[in-house]
Amino acid sequence: MPCPLKIDARDEALAGLYQKELTELAGFETPAPLTLILDSGKVSLAGSNAAEAPVLVDFAGGALDFRRLHGGGRHSEGVARACFGRLKNPVIFDGTAGLGRDAFILASLGARVHLFERNPVVRLLLRDGLRRGRECGVPEVLEITDERMILEDAFSVTLYRGSVIPDTVYLDPMYPERKKSALVKKDMRIFHELLGQDADREDYLLAVLAADYRKTVMKLPKWAEIMEPERVNTAVITKNHRFVVYAGSGRNDGGV
Ligand SMILES: C[S@@+](CC[C@H](N)C(=O)[O-])C[C@H]1O[C@@H](n2cnc3c(N)ncnc32)[C@H](O)[C@@H]1O
Repeated sequence: MPCPLKIDARDEALAGLYQKELTELAGFETPAPLTLILDSGKVSLAGSNAAEAPVLVDFAGGALDFRRLHGGGRHSEGVARACFGRLKNPVIFDGTAGLGRDAFILASLGARVHLFERNPVVRLLLRDGLRRGRECGVPEVLEITDERMILEDAFSVTLYRGSVIPDTVYLDPMYPERKKSALVKKDMRIFHELLGQDADREDYLLAVLAADYRKTVMKLPKWAEIMEPERVNTAVITKNHRFVVYAGSGRNDGGV
């Protein structure tokens, strides 16, 4: 049963900053009761369970900052191994930006990442996370969020009309939950309440493959069936995921 998204704008300055986005969200419906909270300089999303902390994008602290400082390099992070190939500073289109975690990892390892996200609530969380990243005062985070992560106005890679030609298009669509809900990470649980699954993921992959970029990478849970198996070039396998690589002809040169 769809529910109207509640908006709790306690921070008036922030509500002013995002007036356009909030106007667009009027009447927006979600599959479960969710509240967008603008408070103390941050935009977050609260789920139906009041005991759970709201979800927000935080590039300047928490798990992502730890991963930036102490995580694996481009030869050990699965997403980077799949998306970079032999390139040091690839241009990547993240066609399913979500909360920008993969994009941040890729950008912190040297990529320039253009982010595409179709859900307006997620886009606002992301936009706010990038803004706070730029304002956090940590030079490395400022450089990543200001120069190497670009939130595109186009909602999807297939709607992009700009002139940038990516080395890699990266797709990480939502799959249905398989674990018991208690085992699913809190932010992913709220995410599932907001988005459900991306049932059109195969259509998106096919549309991107038809555009014939140099390389397309699709992340999927290990249990999921590989789409278009005859077109797969290689795969990077991690504990829970497969990063399936499809090579196209593209117009950019570089190693797969
Ligand atoms: C699993 S999440 C991505 C998580 C992201 N990789 C991260 O690290 O935070 C999938 C996201 O892709 C978005 N998405 C799915 N299909 C899309 C499409 N065709 N165009 C744009 N965004 C899409 C969904 O709205 C959702 O936010």
